[in-house]
Amino acid sequence: MAYQTPEGDKPGPGTGRPLGIAVLGCGSVGSQVVRLLEEQSGDLAARIGAPVRLVGVAVRRLDAPREVDLPAELLTTDAQALVTRDDVDVVIEVIGGIEPARSLILAALESGASVVTANKALLAEDGATLFEAAEKAGRDLYYEAAVAGAIPILRPLRDSLAGDKVTRVMGIVNGTTNYILDKMDTHGSGFDEALAEAQELGYAEADPTADVDGFDAAAKCAILASLAFHSRVTAADVHREGIADVTATDVASAKAMGSVVKLLAITELKDGAVSARVHPVMIPRHHPLASVRDAFNAVFVESEAAGQLMFYGRGAGGAPTASAVLGDLVSVARNLVAGSSSAPASTYADRAVLPMGETVTRYHVSLDVADRAGVLAAVATAFAEQGVSIQTVRQEGRDDDAQLVVVSHEATDAQLSATVDHLRGMEIVRDVTSVMRVEGEHE
Ligand code: HSE
Repeated sequence: MAYQTPEGDKPGPGTGRPLGIAVLGCGSVGSQVVRLLEEQSGDLAARIGAPVRLVGVAVRRLDAPREVDLPAELLTTDAQALVTRDDVDVVIEVIGGIEPARSLILAALESGASVVTANKALLAEDGATLFEAAEKAGRDLYYEAAVAGAIPILRPLRDSLAGDKVTRVMGIVNGTTNYILDKMDTHGSGFDEALAEAQELGYAEADPTADVDGFDAAAKCAILASLAFHSRVTAADVHREGIADVTATDVASAKAMGSVVKLLAITELKDGAVSARVHPVMIPRHHPLASVRDAFNAVFVESEAAGQLMFYGRGAGGAPTASAVLGDLVSVARNLVAGSSSAPASTYADRAVLPMGETVTRYHVSLDVADRAGVLAAVATAFAEQGVSIQTVRQEGRDDDAQLVVVSHEATDAQLSATVDHLRGMEIVRDVTSVMRVEGEHE
């Protein structure tokens, strides 16, 4: 059994009873967690009210090269044995993936340890099982590092805004795709070229699927939606489109209307239900999220009383992610010292998640058309037939080289995609060159 709080055995100033910390994984994040634990042990002890001691690090291979020097006796390949040891009070899980992470976290909680994890995929797929186990054990499960790395965003949603009503959260929560889109915007590069550059610089993985296809952002969107709207939203509930189909034409088309293309995780309240989606979006350049460059992340929150809030910073990387992990460690350790645990994130609202077709959005559509009388009227009719109202129409070029750029007012995504399908089949439309959802008001 891990740390108990019989009187006299409480860790705290002067008792000499350190809290035992186990770290699962010693890759780029784990090694920085271990480094900071060591370097900041004095400050951590003062902030927690008891000393902390690293008692073990579980790794896959004992002889793998690492960024930190660790005494051999701290390393083990038996993670299961480590998390259930009597001297382990807090387990830090930074191995990622579903298994064995889930079994290890459950074993740790069951044996009385609190858990800090950065595992967005697991939380978004099966958070309910983990939270129930934590509640049953009377221990904490903290996960600030799972969304947007170093940026404090989960605590603000869970605690600071707990008295307000959040209406919408929009985030750039994947640095790799933001880097690629930023290069496409600033250099005019195509997607493949920008991806190759991101891989060369180490931003994108050799297999970039999780980032490029939006899986990573969808997991983070589910976590944000759950906290913002006090409901259980899983990754499977999140509509997901990646950036692989974003073309240089889309980016140029956005530029022409004073916008920039970003991959956004968007979750909002609509008539009591939640929508949760990840897809490329054109946003005006004056929107705060448009200024998020390179591989940075940012989350923009709108709530009834607070209004608009923006959280910005590094969303990945060993040290930034370790900062969020250590912050959680201090919180759960303080609770252990006090003999308490935090209330789990509430899911009382139990809101339904809207299918994408019922989600209200706006579209930007660029069309190659012939410049002759009646073409604009026919295009406008295609929108009207689906009940979609048009906000702006712009024509570029003339004669055989005319382009119509239409931005719609709000309509359901089903109405908008039916309009685009219809336009694709029209004889007067030579090509639909760019279709993308639009967020934010243009000046
Ligand atoms: N691969 C992610 C990114 C970071 O590119 O932002 C970890 O979630």
